[in-house]
Amino acid sequence: MKRISALIAAGVVLSPAPATSQMHSLAGPVPAWALETRRAAFLDKLDGAPAIIAGARIRDLESEYLQDSDFRQDNQFFYLTGLEVPRAWLLLNVTGPGATTLYLPPRNRSAEAWTGVRLGPGPEATAITGIDDVRSGEDLDRDLRRFADHRGTNGGSGKSVVYLSTGAEDQEARLSRVAPSLTGSLEPAAPLLAELRLVKDSDEVSRLRRAAAITSEAHREAMRLATPGITEYELEAAIEYVFRAEGAERLGFPSIVGSGPNSTVLHYDKSRRRTTDGDLVVVDIGAEWGYYTADVTRTFPVNGRFTDRQRAIYDLVLGAQQAAIDAVRPGVTIGDLTGIARDYIDEHSGDLCGSRSCNRYFIHGLSHWLGMDVHDVGSHESELVPGMVLTIEPGIYLPDEALGVRIEDDVLVTENGFELLTGDLPRDAGEIEALMREAPRWIRPR
Ligand code: GLY
Ligand code: MN
Repeated sequence: MKRISALIAAGVVLSPAPATSQMHSLAGPVPAWALETRRAAFLDKLDGAPAIIAGARIRDLESEYLQDSDFRQDNQFFYLTGLEVPRAWLLLNVTGPGATTLYLPPRNRSAEAWTGVRLGPGPEATAITGIDDVRSGEDLDRDLRRFADHRGTNGGSGKSVVYLSTGAEDQEARLSRVAPSLTGSLEPAAPLLAELRLVKDSDEVSRLRRAAAITSEAHREAMRLATPGITEYELEAAIEYVFRAEGAERLGFPSIVGSGPNSTVLHYDKSRRRTTDGDLVVVDIGAEWGYYTADVTRTFPVNGRFTDRQRAIYDLVLGAQQAAIDAVRPGVTIGDLTGIARDYIDEHSGDLCGSRSCNRYFIHGLSHWLGMDVHDVGSHESELVPGMVLTIEPGIYLPDEALGVRIEDDVLVTENGFELLTGDLPRDAGEIEALMREAPRWIRPR
């Protein structure tokens, strides 16, 4: 890290990068109109207050992640700029009222021998982001100092608060070194941005749609491949092969492939067990596409046939899920949907879980928001409005029987109700059994 920083510090500002220097994922760039709309909405929320949004830094290869220096941009920074450049900063209302200023590390040919071409300050950055004022990262400390001095003498913009994102770069430490007078005014920018990120624009929805499609195909392949004796890690490898073969760059979260007793462990992610005839397998996975992740769970019998007992529990979970999905429309809350799913389980448990409802074995929440984070930002109290995306994922877990069932789908709220982003992936037990009779398409079984 020191070596690279020294190279960058010694570097000169080079001519604008060639058009390929911001190498997008297969998802392509976030369109500048979306970025401009998001920043305008954020500026509205700021109401004149300054905001400082820093991009992520690169993990240190030696000390932080031994095998891998993979870089993922900070979500808040990506949301507002669409840029994957490390150590970039975005200032709003700082260089002047209403001003949006982007800082990118200057290009450095020696460093680029290691990293490949990086997007530097120049017209290409403006074209990608729609931000006219793009400056060298070397100007950042000077501009922050000027801002702090100006506030010190005339109260600056008149607002006492400075909103600061909390990405991977240690912004607060940098600010207290460069502009210590600001540190007393800092407030997190995250809650303001969370309100915006909760309602997805069309570019975000198209990313989620593709993430859902890739994840669904990986589910299908896992079901096609499943057979008693296959290991959890073989299923996991097949799933992640499909993700990558379809261009997804990362997992949205560690893949959960839990068979038999592991089907009852909510976040089991070791994938070490060999399946046996009669097991149920819970597969809870999400491909990330262009910074947006799906989150989809299916449960299937490894031998291709649900037992009567497994099917009864499965159908109870499915019925609860369907009741909640059918209730999705603007104005309802996650709390309302949870009540609907739990009422369904109360009314349909019969004697499946003894004399009491199976609800006591539904041990987690029904829903969470979905987006750049698998458990995306935003208050769970919010009423649904069009553009929100949430999971609906009831489950019943019976450890004494090594029997866990979870079914999870990704739902987009629309003007009139909902769209099931994962609607192409079978949920009905009979349809799952039929899918399991198909031959694998991506993986050749050993
Ligand atoms: N997919 C894991 C979770 O929602 O917690
Ligand atoms: Mn989930």
